[in-house]
Formats: sequence, structure tokens, C-alpha cells
Amino acid sequence: MKEKVAKKYSELFEGNPMIVRSPGRINIIGEHTDYNDGFVLPAAIDKAAYIAISLRDDDEIHLAAADLNETFSISVNDLKPVGDTSWPNFILGAAAQFPKRGIPLKGFNAVLMSDVPMGAGLSSSAAIECATTFALNELLQTNLDRITMVKMAQKAEHEYAGVMCGIMDQFASMMGKKDHVIKLDCRTLEYEYVPFKLKGLKILLLNTNVKHSLASSEYNTRRKECEQAVAWVKEHEQQVNSLRDVTEEILDKYVLPKDTLVDKRSRFVVQEINRLLKSCEDLQRGDLQALGNKMFTTHAGLSKMYEVSCKELDYLVDFVKKYDAVIGARMMGGGFGGCTINLVKEEAVDELIAAIRPAYEKETGLPLTYYIDSPENGTEII
Ligand code: GLA
Repeated sequence: MKEKVAKKYSELFEGNPMIVRSPGRINIIGEHTDYNDGFVLPAAIDKAAYIAISLRDDDEIHLAAADLNETFSISVNDLKPVGDTSWPNFILGAAAQFPKRGIPLKGFNAVLMSDVPMGAGLSSSAAIECATTFALNELLQTNLDRITMVKMAQKAEHEYAGVMCGIMDQFASMMGKKDHVIKLDCRTLEYEYVPFKLKGLKILLLNTNVKHSLASSEYNTRRKECEQAVAWVKEHEQQVNSLRDVTEEILDKYVLPKDTLVDKRSRFVVQEINRLLKSCEDLQRGDLQALGNKMFTTHAGLSKMYEVSCKELDYLVDFVKKYDAVIGARMMGGGFGGCTINLVKEEAVDELIAAIRPAYEKETGLPLTYYIDSPENGTEII
């Protein structure tokens, strides 16, 4: 990838670019908990966005997406979200955070390439946002720390992609560490690297190859439903600021009597935050079966209570349940398509893929793609 993106850069622009790689992410457990001040357990992966970039002498930004054969230009003084072609927004949204912090932005040329599949729930957009933020921080010599850059990349998604995402994706992309998952407290941003070398197990991602159009609007609706639950609780318990501070007993008292839908949503989140904490204990004890069982429970909750799954994701999770070699499986990320994450005994991976691919294709008429992944390092200059 490094050579490819450098070559494309030299075809389009002059000079020697800096090349930054920023990965996509997986998440073992803890879904839709980040924007509720809960915990998540993500890791960066080996699929990444690559940006070859250098500053210009003027105020112009010239971008190219090598995979799509598209280009885009705009002036630094005219930064705003653009139309519905999404890829420039991730770069521009990240660039726009510098002037917003009082850091003068300069014109730049950039070529983007990525092997993070889009719409697969692997955070292809966060990878681009983090790569851009990291590269500009180097080029503009702004000396920002990584956590500040994580927050800037998240803002890029809010402001230029219109998705009110939590902090997980950008955090995992920027802060990933080989062979570790990150136990992140999304309230304090305190984090811990937890070793994740699974003897005899593989992390298998099964891509439904669907991304239902509901994804971003329903995501924002779920956030609002959670906020509504907190507001109802706060009428009685003023110290409560997020679902992190809430128990199921509190929901029974103040939310269930008001609205069963909001209760269902917030109950899932409260349960999921606790499930993650228990999963970390499982990991510490080396009890992977217990962790895997919780992944299945998470999926059921995402499907039936939070209602962010879809028939393709449910089909894949139901299918693998029949296999003893599959320790755990669930849909991953925001939902409405994308991938399932499966912990599978190494020796059974090939057999599973051989069985599930034709079955899925017959059931849905869609191709099933798969990736075997493991935790990798976060954003870096290469
Ligand atoms: C998307 C968002 C994340 C997180 C997940 C669900 O990936 O970008 O912030 O909320 O969905 O866990």
C-alpha cells in the first residue's frame, strides 16, 4: 500500500509526501456504550487508510481518492461539508478542526487509499479522519497529543459526516496496540491495554455486504432515546448524567412506566456496560467460553432490544451458533449491516467458511466476504 499510494502521489503532485497509516477497528464487546459514558473493548486491525500528503505554498486543498479515481479541490478559506460524495468530508472535516482550535491551516495535496472495506462496520471513516489529523499535526508542527487528536477526528465525523458517533472508533484507530485490546472508559478516557493473544482461536469477520440506508439516522435516534431515558431519571436523581450512572432498578422506577421503547433501549445499554466489565474478568481468568457466551447475549440484545441488527446479521449469528468451534459471535459496530465478529477455533475456520458462504448467498442473494484479523498498532507514519 505504501508504494502504491506514493506512486499515485507522484503521478498527481510534486514533492515528497509524508505517508501516514491509520487502521480500521474491531470491537470485542461493548456496543453502543461509548456515547453513554460506558466502556468499550476495541482494537485496531491490519486494514487501514493510507494518506500521502504534503503542504502547498497557497491556500488550496487538492485531494485524490486513488481507489475511486476521483479528485476534489477546495480553498482552505472555504472549508465546509461537501455534497454526498463522502470521502472528501472525512479529510476536510479533520482539516477543519485545526483552524477551529486557532491553528492556522495551510493548503495541502493529499492522496488517499484504503483497504478498510467501506460500510462494513470497520470504521473506514474514522481511519481517514485519524490519518488526516495525525498527518496535519506533523506537517503543521502543532504537537498535539494523541487524545486531543482522537477528539478532533471524532468532531470531524459529527460535523462533516453528520453522524453523532461516540469516541470508540477514532480512539481505537489512533491508540491501537499490537496483540492487545483497549479497555476504554468513555467517561474519563482512561484506558488499559489488555493482552489479546488467543491461543488456538481466530477472530473471523463475516461481512454481510449490506449497509442499510437507515444506519446513520437510526444511530442518531438511538442516541436521543438514551438521552431521553437519562432526562427522565434525572428528574428524580439529579446526580445521574448518563446511562453509566443508571441501574436496571432505576429504569424500573422512572423509565419503564413512561415508555416501554425507551426502557428497552436504555436497559440494553445498562446491561451491556455490565456485560463488558464481566467480560474483562472472563478475559483475565482466561475463560474465553464465558466471554463468547456474552458476545451471543450482546447480539440478542442488539437485535431484540436495541433493534440495530438486520436479517442478514441475524442469519450469520444464528448459523454459527450450531458450531461448537464458534466460541462467540455477534454483530459489530453501529449496525444495520456490516460485519459480525466471531471467535472461532483455528482448525474449524476453513470448514465454517466453506459451509456458511453458499448458505448465506442462497439465503440473501448477496456475496459473503470474510477477513481474519488480529489487533494491530494504531496511527503511524510509515
Ligand atoms: C459506530 C460509532 C461508535 C459506536 C458504535 C456502536 O461505530 O461510530 O462511536 O457508537 O457505532 O458501538
